[in-house]
This record gives sequence, C-alpha cells and structure tokens, in this order.
Amino acid sequence: MRKVAVIGVGMTKFGELWNSSLRSLTIEAGIKALNDAGIGGEEVDAIYTGCMSGDMFVKQGHIASLIADYGGMLPVPSTRVEAACASGGLALRQGFMAIASGMADIVVVGGVEKMTDSLGSQTTGYLALAADQEWEAFNGATFPSLYALMARRHMHEYGTTEEQLGLVAVKNHHNGSLNPNAHFQFDVSLEKVMNSSLVADPLRLFHCSPVSDGAACVILASEEKAKELSEDPVWIIGSGQASAAIGLYDREDICTIDSTVNAARAAYKMAGVTPKDIDFAEVHDCFTINEIISSEDLGFFKKGEGGKAVEEGLTSLDGEIPINPSGGLKAKGHPVGATGVAQAVEAVIQLRGKAGKRQVKDAEIGLTHNIGGSGGTAVIHIFSR
Ligand code: COA
Repeated sequence: MRKVAVIGVGMTKFGELWNSSLRSLTIEAGIKALNDAGIGGEEVDAIYTGCMSGDMFVKQGHIASLIADYGGMLPVPSTRVEAACASGGLALRQGFMAIASGMADIVVVGGVEKMTDSLGSQTTGYLALAADQEWEAFNGATFPSLYALMARRHMHEYGTTEEQLGLVAVKNHHNGSLNPNAHFQFDVSLEKVMNSSLVADPLRLFHCSPVSDGAACVILASEEKAKELSEDPVWIIGSGQASAAIGLYDREDICTIDSTVNAARAAYKMAGVTPKDIDFAEVHDCFTINEIISSEDLGFFKKGEGGKAVEEGLTSLDGEIPINPSGGLKAKGHPVGATGVAQAVEAVIQLRGKAGKRQVKDAEIGLTHNIGGSGGTAVIHIFSR
C-alpha cells in the first residue's frame, strides 16, 4: 500500500449562505484547496465528493459530473459518495484508497451540502431518510428523537447528566468562537443551554447541531508527488470504516455505536497507534450525547465516563485530549455531506500549527470521526505530521 498525504485544504464559511448555491460552494472550497496545494485542475487524476442529498435539499442529482464540469476539470473521472452524514468521510476514504492502490497520484476530495433552501420541516424529513424507514421514520422518529433515546439510556445506565450534555455545547461553542469559518462564532453559558427550547426530551436546541450550508475540500497526493509539490505534507496514517445496524431497535446496546468501535480498531491498527497517542480529535457531535458516547467508543475514556471527562475539562482545548477544536458540528455547523471533509481540513490545519487561537499545543497526531445517521456507518482517519 502506498503512503497518502494531504497537500492542500480549503473550505467555505459554514452557515446560512443565502447567496451561494450547491455548485458555487463546491467550487469555492475546491479552488481554495487547489491554490493551497499550488496545483491546477489539469494535474488531478480523480474527484470524489461527499453529498448526502443534493437531490432532496436542492433537487440537484448527478452532481459528480456537474462538479467536474464547473470545476473546469473535464474529463477527469468524478464520483459522488453517499453515506448520510458520513458521506464526506467516506469520500475521503475513497480518495485515500485510490492513491494507496496506485490508481491515482493526485485526488480532489470534496464534501458539500446546501440545506437551508428547504423549509425546516422538509429538512428534518429529508435527513430522516437516512433512518430505517419501515421501523423508525414511518413511526415518526427523527434524528433528534433517536439521539434523545440514546441520551436517556446513557443517563439511566451511567448517570450522565443534562448538565454534562450541556457542557459539550459550552466547550464547542467556545472553540467555534475562535473559528472564522464556524456557523456559530459565539460563546454560550450552561444556563443558556439548559434554558433553550426542548427539541426531543432531554435534548434542547443547544444540544443539537444546526442545519447549515457549506463545502470543504482536501487534495491528496502520493508520497512521490507530495515530496515534489509540498513543504508541509500531512500524512494519513490510518483509515477505518465499519457498518452497524441502521436502526436503534436492532442493536444490543444503544449506549455504544458498534461501527465506531470497529472502525476505530481498524484505523488504530493501520496507523500503529493507540488512543493514548492521539493529541486531538474531531468527533461527530451531531447531538452532544454523540460526542460523549463516541469519546468512549474511540477509547479515550472508559464506557460511561465521557460525561465526567467533559465536566473535568479533559476534552477542552488545553485538556488531556482536546475534542472538536474546530467547534465541532455543534458550533462549526453541520452541512451533512461536507462535515467529514471539514474535519480533515481542521486536522491538517492543526497539524500544520496554523490554527491560531484554537491551536492545540504540540499537536502531532489527530483523529477524525464521521458518523452516518444514528451510527449505521462510521469512518475514522488518523493524521500525522
Ligand atoms: N443550536 C443553536 N442555535 C440554533 C440551532 C442550533 N442547533 N439551530 C437553530 N438555531 C437558532 C437560529 O440561529 C435562530 O436564531 P435567531 O432567532 O437568533 O436567528 C433560531 O435558533 C431559530 O432557528 P430555526 O432555523 O428556526 O430553528 P429550528 O427550530 O427550525 O431548528 C433544530 C432547530 C434543532 C430543530 C435544527 O437545527 C435541527 O434539526 N438540528 C439537527 C440537524 C440534524 O438532525 N442533523 C443530522 C444529524 S444526524
């Protein structure tokens, strides 16, 4: 297997971007990443783009060739990748495999979603298409309600508190306030989180990631090309993907996400590292309970101790294992197809030492964790300087 490097990154601001379209966001992130890598589109061998539902959110299908065309990269082979909210992470894994296998030397990996053009109720319905239609969505379940069930169970089993769920939001909003690309760039108090409106008991507004527009892009290169083109390549040293039951009703334990456990095992093995070697992680906090559950499933804390870890500050920017220095999905925003790629953008910026006020000190190894739906898919990557 060949070594794979990231030699360029770029992203749009995340948020409600009324003046941008699906294609303009994608191209903006792509141009930034190509410029950062110092290459032109003519050097690209393949394009992979994560997009959960351009078809539903803006009624645009077949986005793969649209992107190659509007990116000025025809006739480069272009592929759209879909795995719900893990679409971006999975696109990154496809690009990684194309280079590792020797089929490509330079690959563009993009992620995009334009979610705010539809009504809130429509958006919730489109997102719920990634749940089990016959047993969950048909009966009215939405993603806030599915994660609410996981939260209640975790509280029951391990004594996790509503305050601990809230402290994840407080931490991630603080990190987001330091990120000029974040959807929400303001601090929140625990009191404000605890008094925000109830969405699905026990989850309140500030326990949820927002509905966002945005795009992100990374440029991958083989070792030979990376050495030729880049002074500060960041290496992808581990990649893991796993599947789990799509429906909560079909799982042995809803306080753990098996796909995360299995994808993490594969990624740690490939990278030859353990959770203790990770200096920071971008974790899929679509709802704050997911950051707590996932920080346990990734091996950072024992099962049941994720909530306590947040309370003790272990996951803060200056903590033992900073989680979501970018602000996470909660504050940076969650344009679903873009999220997995934006996590990789943050990992590279951190490892280059260019994250400014949200820089994790002495960061050498970072991890990204991207989940589809309530955990049917998990994709994990490990990056090193
Ligand atoms: N956190 C904090 N503030 C939020 C927010 C969030 N997640 N979502 C919206 N807001 C704010 C808006 O900025 C707006 O503030 P303003 O009045 O100061 O301008 C206000 O709340 C109302 O916004 P609106 O868009 O009308 O909210 P909404 O009630 O329609 O949607 C949620 C709120 C939580 C239902 C929506 O953000 C949501 O569905 N989130 C989850 C998305 C999801 O499921 N993703 C997939 C995960 S698997």
